[in-house]
Amino acid sequence: MKDATKFAHLGRPKVGVGTSVNPPIIRASTLLFDKADDLYNGGHRIYGRHGSPVHDALSEAFCALENGAGTTLTPCGLAANTASILANVKAGDHILVTDSTYGPVRHFCNTQLTKFGVETEYYPPGIGAGIEALIRENTSCILLESPGSLSMEIQDLPAIVKAAKARDIVTIVDNTWSAGLVYAPLDMGADIAVHSATKFFSGHGDILFGAVVSRTKSMAKKVAATAMAFGNSTSPDDTYQILRGFRTVVTRFEQQSKSAVALATWLEAHDKVLRAVHPALKSHPDHAMWQRDFTGASCLFSIVLKPCPETEVLALLDQLKLFAKGFSFGGFESLVIHCDPQLTRNHDPKFDGPLIRVSCGLEDLDDMKADWQHSLGLLA
Ligand SMILES: Cc1ncc(COP(=O)(O)O)c(C=O)c1O
Repeated sequence: MKDATKFAHLGRPKVGVGTSVNPPIIRASTLLFDKADDLYNGGHRIYGRHGSPVHDALSEAFCALENGAGTTLTPCGLAANTASILANVKAGDHILVTDSTYGPVRHFCNTQLTKFGVETEYYPPGIGAGIEALIRENTSCILLESPGSLSMEIQDLPAIVKAAKARDIVTIVDNTWSAGLVYAPLDMGADIAVHSATKFFSGHGDILFGAVVSRTKSMAKKVAATAMAFGNSTSPDDTYQILRGFRTVVTRFEQQSKSAVALATWLEAHDKVLRAVHPALKSHPDHAMWQRDFTGASCLFSIVLKPCPETEVLALLDQLKLFAKGFSFGGFESLVIHCDPQLTRNHDPKFDGPLIRVSCGLEDLDDMKADWQHSLGLLA
């Protein structure tokens, strides 16, 4: 069954007479029991943090999306990343994290893992099988993000998984860019796929949410126990909205991705633009690897402008009318940010002009082009 069909029907209540289309929202911190013995007698939920039927339905949907054995829902995508790491490290460990990781994950590693005696080493995203040389006796996990945040490098997941498996190291892949629809890290042997569901599954820029999908039941148990111990839980209302987003995610994702590839191609031909950085474009250095490992594109890409002062970059962004300035992607509304102030890297990604990240929403492609045509035309 294709994803679009699967997600229209997954996690729906069994139809009786006048059944609601989606599972109902049950709001409860306290759960009540008519027998005292049931308070401590395991095997059922005893408190709101343990979820509800709508949580079960959404977990099932994420497992189906990633072909996983278990899902832990988290309050946001950052918490999904941190829960995955914390479930797999102990004091004295060393972890390898892609240099192209999402900035706040880097901040977590540098400010929090250090407190627990866990050392983070950032590796260049293009390392592939070369990762073997960085693996130490105490390396416990490798965190990948493909394509990388802002700079959009594709990682050689099969090569990294092979090196990791040989040394019993856990691989975690942030799969937010693909929404799990065009990239299947668990099928390629990774242990964990992480999502910021804030992006495509919310789809409307109004909910923070995350999910950790594990390939095996034992890993899923480990992540769930860690997330629970740290107090991660999600509200039934937000959980419901993310499940609702699943119903339409395939159509939105395809439409937005189609616009993004067309806009990136158009922008690349513009005389004020040095190049577009989208792995679906032939000009992308990792295009062949993207073709090998992905089945489609996504709505998020970057462009490199011809060198110009920062004041001009800011003026360009301020002129855009449809592309609002905001830090996210995957929603119905097009967004844009300039990246240079947050392009923190140990291994220089070497862009030869200002880097701008673009997320295509559901607006008409011609209107998107017109917006850029007008704004770029004002550059000196
Ligand atoms: C790749 C990636 N992972 C994780 C996150 C964090 O997600 P959230 O905002 O839901 O915490 C983001 C947010 O932009 C992201 O781009």
